Amino acid sequence: MSGFSFTLAATDGRARTGVIRTPRGEIRTPAFMPVGTAATVKAMLPESVRATGADILLGNTYHLMLRPGAERIARLGGLHRFMNWDRPILTDSGGFQVMSLADLRKLTEAGVTFASHVDGSRHVLSPETSMEIQRLLGSDIVMAFDECPALPATHERQAEAMRLSMRWAQRSRDAFGDRPGHALFGIMQGGVERDLREESAAALRAIGFDGYAIGGLAVGEGQAAMFGVLDYATDLLPAGQPRYLMGVGKPDDIVGAVQRGVDMMDCVLPSRSGRTGQAWTRRGQVNIKNARHADDPRPLDEACSCPACTGYSRAYLHHVFRAGEMISGMLLTWHNLHYYQQIMQGMRDAIAAGGLDAWVADFHALRAEGDI
Ligand code: GUN
Ligand code: ZN
Repeated sequence: MSGFSFTLAATDGRARTGVIRTPRGEIRTPAFMPVGTAATVKAMLPESVRATGADILLGNTYHLMLRPGAERIARLGGLHRFMNWDRPILTDSGGFQVMSLADLRKLTEAGVTFASHVDGSRHVLSPETSMEIQRLLGSDIVMAFDECPALPATHERQAEAMRLSMRWAQRSRDAFGDRPGHALFGIMQGGVERDLREESAAALRAIGFDGYAIGGLAVGEGQAAMFGVLDYATDLLPAGQPRYLMGVGKPDDIVGAVQRGVDMMDCVLPSRSGRTGQAWTRRGQVNIKNARHADDPRPLDEACSCPACTGYSRAYLHHVFRAGEMISGMLLTWHNLHYYQQIMQGMRDAIAAGGLDAWVADFHALRAEGDI
């Protein structure tokens, strides 16, 4: 489609690096997308999110339709203007969030009717309403409306959910229409069942999308099972278009996904854990609440160039967390997002140089040493 393109620059094993071009700017892949659910990446200014190295943010149809409302955002100039982020935004379709957050859900072939978790008001999400809301928001990358069943589920239940999602994918495609400069991604479902993943990929390819997401993972199946699916799932998708693994993950999940051919990911983990005193560093997870940091004059990570690590000690980060000061969430979120973007840049460079395996070995070796 015009105005939106994906160019692969290099591959290393199954891993790829390239660039997605959109009218709002370039997305370097593999890309990590910070989550800005309610039109904000919590505790961060948009220019700070950009300073960590993010090229694209994720927004949520479900949350924004309920508060402040998609029509209101459209009247105010769209989501980019509203939240003061002029680079690309990908919006999730609401299919996943409505099943985990809404009350009194009723799922039919037509869509999902539900009660808002904010004020109990009644709403409908369907492929058609989801496409309309994402259009009103001004999303650059629109996600098809899908159903992600809770695991564990029987093969039959997963087959039903996947086939419904594929009918909804066709309706999403029809409702999206032709919107130059905006992309529509389909979402593969099928849980951990290989036959269902194959059927889902074939259905999506027959419809035709600008990119393809892998949904229905990171829902409690564990890393080994998730990697087991990714071992074959990325190869079921067109090589020339972006592949997006939804809702992943921890740093080692992200690295393993990129090794298996994933180009894009999103997760609340770096931002959410920043607000609960959890930091992610090259040496693994650090709990800043722990009393061992109370007198420690060293930075969180001496090799990190983020504001939290260049300006503050572990003792200070420990103190402001314990005191409930807002700067605690601000500094740890910044550090975590910066670290995630460093991982992505490291992998992009390594793939371009043909050295991803060595980069991954170093990544695991440093983590094995632990926080010292
Ligand atoms: N976020 C994480 N997993 C999923 C999924 O399967 N579908 C959608 N729409 N969003 C997700
Ligand atoms: Zn840092």
